[in-house]
Amino acid sequence: MEKTLVIIKPGAIQRGFIGEVIHRFERKGLQLCGIKMMQLTDEILVEHYAHLVQRPFFKRIKDSMMITPVIVCCWKGIDAVHIVHEMAGKTNGREASIGTIRGDFSVSVQENIIHTSDTVENAKAELDRFFNEKEIFDFDQHNINFLYANDEI
Ligand code: PPS
Repeated sequence: MEKTLVIIKPGAIQRGFIGEVIHRFERKGLQLCGIKMMQLTDEILVEHYAHLVQRPFFKRIKDSMMITPVIVCCWKGIDAVHIVHEMAGKTNGREASIGTIRGDFSVSVQENIIHTSDTVENAKAELDRFFNEKEIFDFDQHNINFLYANDEI
């Protein structure tokens, strides 16, 4: 099973979409195995968006991510990284397909509701960045036989 990171951004918190975002991943059949509210800092954002620090919009993203605390979540499931990234939709909310989270709730590139890990490797690094090991819980998912066939788990 894979684990992946979702950050529910300040815009989504202000607009009242915390429950909606969590509900979508729950309904899909993913298991929530870590969740907390945290205030992001300059340091963690420089690390998290290291590939964007030279871009002209970097300060704008950073400021936007610190306006309120965010909710960070760890979701688990087979192919969870791909599923969560696809459910988020394209980065630009104006281009994201209707039915995806950004397609339904965003009209912006920056104010795009959530961040999701894009690869398995990045998911591991990002989960380590935002959670310590005691904050990620491994527990039985009692509906697992209704989510997957025997040969899938
Ligand atoms: S990249 O280079 O492939 O990682 O870019 P992308 O995945 O499209 O975007 C990464 C994050 O940068 C934000 N972004 C922007 N913010 C403001 N203005 C502009 N022009 C812009 N372009 C990209 C975008 O919201 C992505 O944030 P996350 O948190 O990953 O969704």
